[in-house]
Amino acid sequence: MSFSFATDLDAFVAGDPHEAFTQLRREEPVSWQRLPMLHGPDQGFWLVMRHHDVVQVSRDAEGYVSNEGTLLVDHPPSTAPPPWTMIKSEFCSLDGAVHRAYRDLLSPSFTSKAIAVLETRIKARAERLVSEAFAEDGFDVAEKLAVPFPVGVVLGDLLGLPEEDRFRAAYWSDVLSAPEDPHFKHAPDATIRAVQEMYDYAVALYHDRKAQPQDDLASVIAHARFKDGGEVSVDVFTHFFWSMILGSFDTTAASIAGGLLALIQRPAIARELRDDTSKLPLAVEEMLRWVSAVVYFRRTATRDQMLGDKKIAAGDRVALCYPSANRDEEVFENPFEFNIHRKPNPHVSFGFGAHFCLGAKLARMEMKAFFEALLARPQWLKQTGDVRHARSNFLNRIHTLPVEVTGAPCSRR
Ligand code: HEM
Repeated sequence: MSFSFATDLDAFVAGDPHEAFTQLRREEPVSWQRLPMLHGPDQGFWLVMRHHDVVQVSRDAEGYVSNEGTLLVDHPPSTAPPPWTMIKSEFCSLDGAVHRAYRDLLSPSFTSKAIAVLETRIKARAERLVSEAFAEDGFDVAEKLAVPFPVGVVLGDLLGLPEEDRFRAAYWSDVLSAPEDPHFKHAPDATIRAVQEMYDYAVALYHDRKAQPQDDLASVIAHARFKDGGEVSVDVFTHFFWSMILGSFDTTAASIAGGLLALIQRPAIARELRDDTSKLPLAVEEMLRWVSAVVYFRRTATRDQMLGDKKIAAGDRVALCYPSANRDEEVFENPFEFNIHRKPNPHVSFGFGAHFCLGAKLARMEMKAFFEALLARPQWLKQTGDVRHARSNFLNRIHTLPVEVTGAPCSRR
């Protein structure tokens, strides 16, 4: 078929190109795709569409590694100096023993018990933002709610960055994860400057929290020890810092905006949830599946092996297409129906296997708190203009969702 995952970025502006994904799933679930290179001849990668194959690759962390790059373009070479080491050593890009050591160090901060401490603050933040937004006649969901809420939670409540620095940190993530998105209007050298600025900031934060620990995750990491007793050096701290910024708030923002859009378009479901918020946990799972905030993560094959009916060679890039896996007809009944009662709902929106999202519990808590605050309002929302998605094949973000505050079309009966 003619769809090119790497170059048809315009196809993502109206949301994920599900027609093309469905066709690929049916006709060529593991397909070879062209990858144009800025310098040198074009290269390629395997695009994996089916749930079964995405799970198979994700669970085989030895046969498919992450350290060559998690995006289609390779990581900087191993000889690259700091600040590039920070990019290469972010969690998703680590394998084997180092990955396990990093995860063991951070996991205790993401257990149900650990994040329960944040719940009151998260709920208060959701209620405040929702109440401020609803005080206006109309607003943009991304600008007023979906983005500031997780930025405040992850970069503020969790990591401990002061208010004035949070949007700078969010900017670094936007530059690095969406360099080609015109929404952000990045200057041509923005990436290089962002990496340096972020590195310098992380180094300063490390020294600050070493000297004056506070009640935040930055301090926990700066003072933590690995299982072998080793301390977290300033360089290693920068790896953790970038891991906490990349894909932590923008994924949650995408899931909130996309989930809310699904409810605005389906007032009967919004009404049902409002009448019984105990249905929210299942509804949140369906929003996560429906939106599939991360479009792909990449692996690199370490040996020749079969995937579906294709021969994958050692060294080949392999991209796992989560939104496609989450609409796989062989796993989900009526996958194009937004069904808040879906159970089981084995979506792969948080990945699968060794790299399963460390922040999944926190993201679920954020989404539940957000929708509880929203559904408690006596008013509801009506869409007033076009939705604009990111021009990105990596993150399914919503940049613009204009709404007006309406009466109470879904008031309690
Ligand atoms: C709805 C929101 C979120 C979605 C959809 C999401 C999605 C994902 C996915 C697909 C992966 C797998 C990467 C891979 O297989 O290579 C992942 C990993 C990860 N996520 Fe999330 N994420 C979300 C929220 C968060 C939050 C709130 C945090 C932290 C505050 C976080 C931190 C991480 C980390 C550290 C990893 C790497 C884990 C590892 O490599 O061992 N995520 N996430």
